[in-house]
Amino acid sequence: MTEDTVLPAPREKGAGADGEPLLEVSGLTKHFPVKGGFPIRRTIGAVQAVDGIDLTVHAGESFGLVGESGCGKSTTGRLITRLLEPTSGSITYRGQDISHATRKQLAPIRSEIQMIFQDPYSSLNPRQTVGKIISGPMEINGIEPEGGREKRVRELLEIVGLNPEHFNRFPHEFSGGQRQRIGVARALALEPKLIVADEPVSALDVSIQAQVVNLLQEVQQELGIAFVFIAHDLAVVRHFSHRVAVMYLGKIIEVGDRDSIYTRPRHPYTHALLSAVPEVNLAEEDTGGRERIRLAGDVPSPISPPSGCRFRTRCWKAQDKCATEEPPLVRISGNRDGHLTACHFPEEPTIEARDEDIVLDPALAALEEGAEG
Ligand SMILES: Nc1ncnc2c1ncn2[C@@H]1O[C@H](COP(=O)(O)OP(=O)(O)OP(=O)(O)O)[C@@H](O)[C@H]1O
Ligand code: SF4
Ligand SMILES: [Mg+2]
Repeated sequence: MTEDTVLPAPREKGAGADGEPLLEVSGLTKHFPVKGGFPIRRTIGAVQAVDGIDLTVHAGESFGLVGESGCGKSTTGRLITRLLEPTSGSITYRGQDISHATRKQLAPIRSEIQMIFQDPYSSLNPRQTVGKIISGPMEINGIEPEGGREKRVRELLEIVGLNPEHFNRFPHEFSGGQRQRIGVARALALEPKLIVADEPVSALDVSIQAQVVNLLQEVQQELGIAFVFIAHDLAVVRHFSHRVAVMYLGKIIEVGDRDSIYTRPRHPYTHALLSAVPEVNLAEEDTGGRERIRLAGDVPSPISPPSGCRFRTRCWKAQDKCATEEPPLVRISGNRDGHLTACHFPEEPTIEARDEDIVLDPALAALEEGAEG
């Protein structure tokens, strides 16, 4: 075992969107069959959870994936980590097509792609000590670090801000935020190149969320690990992501670099999501006249999504064309490089003034000020 494969030695600082492509996803689709009928059950339809998405994540880049509940974020994460088999489309990791790779074929890269889950309670085995949990991935992959696994566990506990002496404790002895740190330590154990973090802070108290986002950001920057950061909330990924993709009903409807998405969104749905971000730290008279867009109706069923543009049943700009032609995800006039929007009648890129309003809470705002200062 070389030292390289054992220790997460600091890599080059996050390369951002200019780095080499680490992960390339093209036309990725996952349809879950829906069974019905009596007495013989047969497939009567499909949940179109993810329906033909394209995305690229560069080495060292943090990529945010946002959208309402049920839009297909977790399914995308599980496809990328190959916990799920895609229905169609391709997933290329470091130039290698892993779309339908078998367990055996995936073995060499398993350690490079890790996942952090939403629920720090159910994702840790309550009967195992923290040491056992964190060293689990090393054990499974037969990795014996220099100095032994216990030494490595202590190092990892230190990296995530926990007391290295606590490796013999059980998960119930830790708070929610501390448990999520244990999840991060476990994800780091094998020196991954890509971490898919599925709502890693949404189960935590708001004050703790900022600390864990901060930790992930440090890990991302100092170890140069690429992240796919999944969240339903645009405010959380804003602090963390170089680029952001917005999903709606199984499709990516807008993607671009962070500033472009937050200050010059073009898709009506992105506008609605941004306007829905709570302004708990702003006095009522301080909202700068920003109108809150309330989306009418519920998200349609992914079993029979609307024709044409999937957002049309809730869109205030919808016209006939929206029902018959699916808008392609393209760079539209006025968009910056790399900013793609899927809309026939996009909004004007004129909400610079909203920038300061898009803040989740004072703790995250302070965090961002720190990052910028
Ligand atoms: N194993 C499954 N079988 C059938 N349908 C599924 C399965 N997993 C997910 N779905 C459906 O696929 C759609 C997308 O689910 P997914 O969990 O990816 O959404 P999400 O964006 O992560 O939502 P949330 O924010 O609630 O976590 C949903 O309609 C969901 O009900
Ligand atoms: S394509 Fe039409 S329905 Fe869809 S978001 Fe644009 S204007 Fe609205
Ligand atoms: Mg999910």
